[in-house]
Amino acid sequence: MVAVGVRRYKITDGMAERIEADGGLTDLPQVTVTHRELVRDGIRYRLYTSAPQVFGEETIPALASITLVPPQRRCPLSPRPDTMGIWQVSAAGRALPDRTINGMRLARRTRLAWRCMLLRRPHSVGVVGGTRVRDLQQATPWQAEFYSTARYVRQDFVADAAMVRAGSPNAEYLNQRHAYEFHHHCGGVLIAPQWVLTAQHCIINADGAIDPDYVRRWQRIRLGTQDLVQGGATYAIAKVVLHPDFNERRFRNDIALLRIAADAETVPMDDPKRIAPLRISGVRADDPLPDDWVIMAVYGWGTMTAHGDDTAPHLDDKGHLLHEARELRMVRLDPVPRAVCARNRHYRGVVTDGVVCAGYGPGGRDSCQGDSGGPLVGMNGDDPEALVGIVSGGYGCALPNVPGIYTNVAHYLPWIRKVVGAGALAP
Ligand code: ARG
Repeated sequence: MVAVGVRRYKITDGMAERIEADGGLTDLPQVTVTHRELVRDGIRYRLYTSAPQVFGEETIPALASITLVPPQRRCPLSPRPDTMGIWQVSAAGRALPDRTINGMRLARRTRLAWRCMLLRRPHSVGVVGGTRVRDLQQATPWQAEFYSTARYVRQDFVADAAMVRAGSPNAEYLNQRHAYEFHHHCGGVLIAPQWVLTAQHCIINADGAIDPDYVRRWQRIRLGTQDLVQGGATYAIAKVVLHPDFNERRFRNDIALLRIAADAETVPMDDPKRIAPLRISGVRADDPLPDDWVIMAVYGWGTMTAHGDDTAPHLDDKGHLLHEARELRMVRLDPVPRAVCARNRHYRGVVTDGVVCAGYGPGGRDSCQGDSGGPLVGMNGDDPEALVGIVSGGYGCALPNVPGIYTNVAHYLPWIRKVVGAGALAP
């Protein structure tokens, strides 16, 4: 495994000109992806290439991928406010011969036509429908990021190249992601001086299997910043403690604890303003039951689109590239009583005492991919008050009448106390 990132270059007159440096994560090797456009048979292609690179013992061969360039003009559809027009290719009869473009062989393909398709407009960046926490001037000294130092491995690069070749509307995005977007993995929350709580489904290796050893080797925790590119401190993971009865398919016991190593790089662990644990709801005798918090909020650097999947276009309505959240975002949610949530047809057999549901009836507000492991917080007016849940799962993101599923942290207090020590939890 190797750790790679990306740098952006602009190609003008065949010259590659660096247009933006990735902040942070500068210790990681970077992959340089360049692109230029060419026209063959009246079809515009964009050719992306990277030079071969050697990282330690690993060699990444030169890679190239090709994508079709949509028409320069705007989609002729006049979208409603919640929709946008996106060019998509569709087959249009006649086959083109095999041909080789800059050494890349394009198998015989049907001549393609561009169609303007109406898609739901992506919501704001970060948790869906959210606000940048910085704009609220809220302190979140317990928010953790769980990131990978080996996130963008060769398989990812090859998979991205394949998506690009398949004409993914995210070709531009896949090729121009910032380093922090490759590396971001999950959220987490500091609950005791050296312990971060997260979702167990985040403790996975590059093949998606639960793998604490891989995680200790290749992932780190970031604390003390809302910005993924500057500030804060990063820590190695000294120990991973898994709940023994996790069942991913049924959202059962989606909880894990990470003990962080005392190797702060930039700020001391005990700077109370920047890094401080969050009290778990239920630690105080007078805390509401999970469903009884009147206001809740979820925090995260997760995906920007309501679709929350890789096929949602990372483009705004002008066709400009949308990046994933660099700054922490939050969105307010309503608690959804367990009995109501359990009746939702997408959550049959899922809603046990170990989960809490929260959402927003009309849709448009939710946590989403990349928020997992992060906190669902019970609010006292505008102030974050206590940890109620951990982002775990959901059917889609931000759909009307489909709440998100959160691990009910209070339910796991006995297990948490056993692992971290009863006296260690924030009172
Ligand atoms: N499993 C997702 C993750 O890994 C979180 C999904 C949350 N979905 C929702 N609709 N609230 O980041």
